[in-house]
Amino acid sequence: MMKTTFFSSSELRDLIARYSQVFILTDEEVARFWLPEFCHWMDCNGTQEIVLRSGEEMKTLKTAQMIWEKLLKYQADRHALLVNLGGGVISDLGGFVASCYKRGVDFVNVPTTLLAMVDAAIGGKNGVDFQGYKNQIGTFAMPLGVWICPTFLKTLPLREVHSGWAEMMKYGFIKDEELLNTNNDNYTHYIQQCAEIKSDIVAEDPYEKGPRKVLNFGHTLGHALEAHFADSNVPLTHGEAVAYGMWAALWLSCRQCGLSEEVLADYEPKMEWLLSKSSSLIEEADADAIIHYLSQDKKNESGEPRFVLLEEVGKPIIGQAVPMSLLKEAVRELALRSARLATLRDQQ
Ligand SMILES: NC(=O)c1ccc[n+]([C@@H]2O[C@H](COP(=O)([O-])OP(=O)(O)OC[C@H]3O[C@@H](n4cnc5c(N)ncnc54)[C@H](O)[C@@H]3O)[C@@H](O)[C@H]2O)c1
Repeated sequence: MMKTTFFSSSELRDLIARYSQVFILTDEEVARFWLPEFCHWMDCNGTQEIVLRSGEEMKTLKTAQMIWEKLLKYQADRHALLVNLGGGVISDLGGFVASCYKRGVDFVNVPTTLLAMVDAAIGGKNGVDFQGYKNQIGTFAMPLGVWICPTFLKTLPLREVHSGWAEMMKYGFIKDEELLNTNNDNYTHYIQQCAEIKSDIVAEDPYEKGPRKVLNFGHTLGHALEAHFADSNVPLTHGEAVAYGMWAALWLSCRQCGLSEEVLADYEPKMEWLLSKSSSLIEEADADAIIHYLSQDKKNESGEPRFVLLEEVGKPIIGQAVPMSLLKEAVRELALRSARLATLRDQQ
């Protein structure tokens, strides 16, 4: 499979001009800040806009169906183009919608969050959440290309910047240690580097049969935490859940794979920073409920959760089984960190 195509603004504008039917899928926040600007930059004439409420709760089959109904109503044919303008929710959902509609129409991703620029918009994994579990229904289908434009980040709330940084740190752990030692304020400098890391890994293993699984570092427990808190009044962002999940993966790596405790200790202040805008609290009593979500994790083999762990920074190992007792201990340890973070926040 080809590597991801990264468009320049003029390449995207030229591409859009070649389609007779163009649909822009976005959410209310992005539309408020950027939709008129984007249409102006792209010389969009006669495009149809589909604007959703913001948030993970929109990443469902119900929303996909509503979009398909709109596409049918506007008589979109197989030669239409769908432009996914937004964060990871929009690119996951829009990619899924486009890849199923009339057995597949072209789509492009225009990520507007840091997390989508460095991760979600790249790689062709599309899908929706189902019955409370993350990304259960979906497709592999590559966008024609991705336009990364850091200007969109001017309006991104700081909490969402931290969320994107968590995925950037993931690349630090699995591939490029430099990303663990960078200045947090200078993040735009590293966006393309992270996007290229993801694109290279995906090109090697587009359907996640092997090497691509390293991208799930921090995501096994991360997805369970994200799902657990989704219905609470203090949901975690995807990156916050991954920030906790990476701590657990490092802790397990020290126990099972000989990772140096120093790596874990170095990460702790970084995790504090990544989670400094979150008010979710992991409690020891939640351990069973959180672990329950692991039963539906897509990375499971023979019904058992599998983890990406580290031997060293830059040396991930995939498919690691972890005994349930150790997993429970990891969640209990995480609950202690979470309580400490809450105390730190209250003192500020
Ligand atoms: N497919 C993949 O490979 C992959 C990888 C990582 C994450 N994901 C998925 O991505 C999703 C998370 O993505 P996300 O963090 O981008 O969340 P998101 O799409 O919900 O965006 C976060 C918030 O930021 C707002 N927003 C977006 N752009 C903005 C801007 N420029 N200015 C102001 N506000 C803006 C949105 O309206 C939303 O409220 C999750 O569903 C996760 O599962 C997918």
